[in-house]
Amino acid sequence: MATTRDKGGDLFLGGIRLRTLADDPGVGTPTYVYDLSAIALEARELRSSFEGAPHLVAFAVKANSAGPIVRTLAREGCGADVVSGAELGLALECGIAPDHVVYSGVAKTDDELDRAILAGPRGIGAIAVESVEEIGRVDARAAAARRVARLAIRVNPGVELGELGTHEYIATGHDEAKFGVARGDLPSALSALRAAAHTELVGFGMHVGSQLTSVTAYVEASRTLFGIVANMRAEHGKRLAFVDTGGGFGIDYGQGPCARPGDFVRAVRAEQRAAGLEGLALHVEPGRSLVAPHGVLVARVLQTKASRFQKGVAALKWLLIDAGMNDLLRPALYKARHRIVSLASDAAPSSNWRVVGPVCESSDDFGTHGLPESPPAYVAILDAGAYGYTMASTYNGRPLPAEVFLEEGRVVDRRSRGSAQAWIAERAGSANAVRAP
Ligand code: LLP
Repeated sequence: MATTRDKGGDLFLGGIRLRTLADDPGVGTPTYVYDLSAIALEARELRSSFEGAPHLVAFAVKANSAGPIVRTLAREGCGADVVSGAELGLALECGIAPDHVVYSGVAKTDDELDRAILAGPRGIGAIAVESVEEIGRVDARAAAARRVARLAIRVNPGVELGELGTHEYIATGHDEAKFGVARGDLPSALSALRAAAHTELVGFGMHVGSQLTSVTAYVEASRTLFGIVANMRAEHGKRLAFVDTGGGFGIDYGQGPCARPGDFVRAVRAEQRAAGLEGLALHVEPGRSLVAPHGVLVARVLQTKASRFQKGVAALKWLLIDAGMNDLLRPALYKARHRIVSLASDAAPSSNWRVVGPVCESSDDFGTHGLPESPPAYVAILDAGAYGYTMASTYNGRPLPAEVFLEEGRVVDRRSRGSAQAWIAERAGSANAVRAP
C-alpha cells in the first residue's frame, strides 16, 4: 500500500490527490493510477540487494505491460521476462536490450520462437525451454534462420504444493504443474541439447509460484536448482552464464507481514555461494513486487442497496461500484482480497459494506470492507498495480479501464477508457470485419 492521506483525509498517491483525477471528466472512473517514481525506487532497492554481484532483474511484463512502466524499469537497468511474442516486442520497443530478455512459456508458436531467435544480433538473452520436446523445435527454427539460439532450461524443482503456501492457480513448481522440465527428464534434455547444434545452453532457471510471503520454499527450491547446476557444470557448463531463480516475491495485501524482495535475493545468494556458483550471474524475474503496491484502481460508488434479514441470511449493505471483475479479476479468480478505502474521508470505518461490481456473476465481489457509514463518492482498490489492467477484459460489454501515470507528483501520461461505441462497432462487425469468402 503506497497511498497517504492529507490532514483533510483526502487520499493521495504519488503526491496527487486521487479525488482530483476522479472528478476530472478527461479521466473519470474506473481508472488505474500508478506511481512511476515509487516503481523506480522499488527496482533500485531490489537491485542494491545484489551488492554489486552480477545479476539481472527481469521484470515479468505480464504483471503490467503499460509502456510508461516498462520504460521506467528499463531506465532502472531491468531486463524483461516475457511469455509471448507480443510481450517480447513490447519489451524491445520500450528500450530493453535483447540480451536482457528471457522468454518462458510452455507453448510457444514457431512465429514467436522466430522473433526471439532473430531479435538483435544474437537473439534474446535466453529462450527458457519448458520441455525436452521444445529443444528440438528451437534447434530447427534456429537452423532455418542460420543462427545459434541461446537456451536456458527451466527446471521444475518439485516443491510440495502445500509448502509453497500460495493459491493453487499460481503455484508452478510442484510435480503436477505443466511448467518446466521435471528433474527426472533432465538427462533426456541434456542429450537433446547435444544433438541441437544450433543452440547453446547459457543458463538454468525456475519459477516456483507467485505471491510467496516467506522465503522458505523459494530457498529450498533454489537449493535443488543450484545442486543440479553444480552437478552439470563440469560436463555442460562451459558457456553457462546465469542461474535464474524466478519471480514470486509476495506483497502485503493487508493480510500480514511479508518477506521483502531483497530478503529473497539475500537468502538465495547465500545458497548460490554454498553451491560454489558465485561465478554465475543471478537472475530473478519479479513482476508483482515491483508494481503492485504502487497502483490503485479508483472506482465510483454508483448506488447502495440494503437487503433485509431473511431465512438466516443477515441483513446486508451493498456498495455498488463502477469497477468490476472485468477490470480487476483477482478477487473473482483467486478469491484475492484487496483493501478498499474511501477517497475523500478520514472518518473511521463505521460500517461493513459488501463491495460488488456491475458484472453479471456472483464472483464479481470485492468482499466486505469497513467504510464510513455514509457512502463515499469514490473508493480506491489498493495494491492493484500488478495483474490488474493486464488481466482486464471487455466482458459484459464493459470498456477497458483508463490508466494514469504519475511521476514526481505530476501526471506524465494517460490512456483513456475504451469506448462503448468502439466495442459495439467491433462486436457488431460493422467496422473491420473480415468476411469468409
Ligand atoms: N516468471 C515466470 C516464469 C512467471 O510465470 C511469473 C508469473 C513470474 C516470473 C512473475 O511472478 P511474480 O513476481 O509476479 O509473482 N495473475 C496472478 C499471478 C500469475 C503469475 C504467473 N506467473 C495473480 O494475479 O496473482
